[in-house]
Amino acid sequence: CGMLSRGKDLAGLKVLVTAGATRERMDPVRYITNDSSGKMGFAICEAARDRGADVTAVFGSVSVPVPERVRKVPIESAQDLYDAMMKEAPGHDVIIQAAAVCDYRVDDKKATKIKKKAGEPLVLTLTENPDVAKAVGEIKKEGQILCGFAAETDHVKQNAQAKLKKKNLDLIIANDVTVPGAGFNVDTNIASLITEKGTEELPLMRKRELADVILDKVMEMRK
Ligand code: CTP
Ligand code: CA
Repeated sequence: CGMLSRGKDLAGLKVLVTAGATRERMDPVRYITNDSSGKMGFAICEAARDRGADVTAVFGSVSVPVPERVRKVPIESAQDLYDAMMKEAPGHDVIIQAAAVCDYRVDDKKATKIKKKAGEPLVLTLTENPDVAKAVGEIKKEGQILCGFAAETDHVKQNAQAKLKKKNLDLIIANDVTVPGAGFNVDTNIASLITEKGTEELPLMRKRELADVILDKVMEMRK
């Protein structure tokens, strides 16, 4: 009944959402990535769009269709995401960062395909990527609402609270990815909404419903 009761309550709002996984190339045909499907980020795009917002989706590698009627900014690497977000962030009212960003990239990306050397191990050195959410937090505009995600396997609440502060977020959506029905590549999630005021534990719900609950929280915080 979400759409009936919520109506077009986001009309006139510019919402920027990141989704999917970044890819960090080692050569023209190989890369390092993670398990993000893009489902959570795209569910937020669709929910915000259906509630009347102007939505921009910045997305990496995804395994589900890109939503219709949203502005699309495809990216590949964490560095691409950083560049796109530094450009896009200032023009948006609400920013929700659901992308699973690779924390490291391959140190020296090869221009040609790496050849196998029989009997020898291949050693790759990884370099830290920029923390995009932290950088967005550093250029936060007055009145902007910044949200992030924290997919954790242990000390879920403490880790998420630390990220809320470090990245200058207004809201972090934390989930324990070891619990069945939460996390990567499923249609459901079990999350907690954490703000500086406290924690709200949510039951198992479909990602689309969680998207609406997140947007409800955002609208409450904008008041
Ligand atoms: N994030 C980001 N840039 C990065 C890493 C993460 O913008 N280089 C964002 C994610 O999109 C997410 C939030 O920060 O909204 C938390 O991501 P997470 O990987 O849980 O946090 P990290 O700070 O990378 O900490 P760690 O992986 O060590 O737990
Ligand atoms: Ca990380």
